[in-house]
Amino acid sequence: MERWRTIIEPFRIHSVEPIRLTTRAERERALEAAGWNLFGLHADDVLIDLLTDSGTGAMSRDQWAAIQHGDESYAGSPSFYAFRDAVQALFPFGHVIPTHQGRAAERILFSALGGPGKVIPNNTHFDTTRANVEFTGAEAVDLVIPEGRVPSLVHPFKGNMDVNALEALIRERGPANVPVVFVTVTNNSGGGQPVSLENLRAVREVCDRHGLPLFLDACRFAENAWFIRTREPGYATRPIPEIVREMAALADGMTMSAKKDGLANIGGWLALNDDALAERCRNLLILTEGFPTYGGLAGRDLEAIAQGLREVVDEDYLRYRIRSTAYLGEALDAAGVPVVRPIGGHAVYLDARALLPQIAPLEYPGQALAVALYLEGGIRGVEIGTVMFGRHPDGSESAAPMDLVRLAIPRRTYTQSHIDYVIEVVRHVATLAPKLRGLRIVAQPPQLRHFTARFEPL
Ligand code: F0G
Repeated sequence: MERWRTIIEPFRIHSVEPIRLTTRAERERALEAAGWNLFGLHADDVLIDLLTDSGTGAMSRDQWAAIQHGDESYAGSPSFYAFRDAVQALFPFGHVIPTHQGRAAERILFSALGGPGKVIPNNTHFDTTRANVEFTGAEAVDLVIPEGRVPSLVHPFKGNMDVNALEALIRERGPANVPVVFVTVTNNSGGGQPVSLENLRAVREVCDRHGLPLFLDACRFAENAWFIRTREPGYATRPIPEIVREMAALADGMTMSAKKDGLANIGGWLALNDDALAERCRNLLILTEGFPTYGGLAGRDLEAIAQGLREVVDEDYLRYRIRSTAYLGEALDAAGVPVVRPIGGHAVYLDARALLPQIAPLEYPGQALAVALYLEGGIRGVEIGTVMFGRHPDGSESAAPMDLVRLAIPRRTYTQSHIDYVIEVVRHVATLAPKLRGLRIVAQPPQLRHFTARFEPL
C-alpha cells in the first residue's frame, strides 16, 4: 500500500447499534450508584466503551453465517472439528480443549499444575491468570524485562521476558517447583506490548535446560505476530500464519481467550501436547465446563471462532487494527498526555501516576482518571494499577508498579470519528488534572477486587 494513503477500516458497516449521549448530571448519578466503580455502570449509560477489547468486537458477515452452521450435538459435533482444525492450523498442538473463555482454561491448567510451594513465572500475569494461580496456593511471579516497567521508555518488544531473572528464579526455587513457564502475547498488563521470537527462543532454551514446559497465554497472538512482522529483523515478508506457527512451535501448549484474537464474543481453549496432562485437564473440564467437544460453548460459538481465526490473521485487518490503536495513542502523546510508549496492540494506556502526581498510589490515581473520563465524556476505560494489583493474598496493600488507565479498542467496532471524540475528551480531562482528587475503598472482596470494590471520592 502506498505510504501517503490513509489506512482505512477494511470493511463497511452492515448492521448498526445505537449509542446514547448522557448529561453530566446523569453520569454523576450513575457513578454514585455504581460506587465510583465503572464496572458497576449500566452499559447504556456509556457512550464509548473502552473497558475492554474482550468479547466486545463486531463479528463479520461470514462469522454470523458460520453461526448458522452450528451443530448442537452434545458429543462429536462437526462444529467442534471445524473449531479444532482452525486452531490447529495456527497452533498445531495435539490436544485442543474448548472452554467458555480464557480463565476457564487457566483454572483447569493451574488446578492440574499449581498448588502450595509452586511458582509460575510469566512476563506479566493478567489479573485472572494471577488469581487462578494464587487460588491453588501457588505463587505468580512477573519477570518482564526492566524496560517493560518504565511507561515512557520506547523498546520494540517491551513485553519480553527477562531471561536472566527467569534463570535465577528457577535456580532459586528449584525446577521441580516450577510446573510451567508462561509468556503472555501480547503482554496485556504491561501495556499490550509484544514479545519477540528471539525472546521466545531464549525462554525456550532456559525451559529446555531445566526440563520445563513453556505455555503461551496467546489471547492477542495475531497482534503480537504483526509486531514481529513489522519490527523483528527477518520477518517483514513472512505471512502472519507462518509467524504464528513459529511462535506455537516454541511452546508446549497455550491458554486462549477467543474473545480477543478469536474475534468472537465468547469462547476460549486450552491446547497442549502432553497426553497425560491433557487427560487430567479433560477430566476437570467435564466437571465444570462440559464434554470435551464443546467445553461450555454452543456449537455455533465454535463455528464463529473457527471463522474468526481465519479473519484475524488477514494482513489488511491487522494493519488497520494496529494503526488505529496507534492513531489514538500518538494523538494523545502529541498533546502531551503521558501514555505508555510505544503504543500497544489492543489499547492505549494512560500513565495516571505521571498525569496526577498529587494523588498517592494508595489513593488510586488510575481510578481517579478513569472516573474523570466517564464524568466528562461518557468514556469508560479501566484502571490497571493499584486497585487491580495492589492487594496481596495476605490482605496487605502496596503500590502497583504502575498506575495506568487502559483505553482498550474493541475490534472492528468504533470508527475514526469516535476515536477523534475520545482524543478530545482525554485532552480536556488532562487540562483538569491538577484539580482531580483520589478515592478510598469502602468495600472490597478478597480477590479480584477491581470488579466489585466500591469507592468514595476523597
Ligand atoms: N489472559 C490475558 C492476557 C487476558 O487479557 C485475559 C482477559 C485473559 C487471560 C482471560 O480471558 O476474559 O476470556 O477469561 N482479558 C480481558 C481484558 C478481560 O479486559 O483484558 P477471559
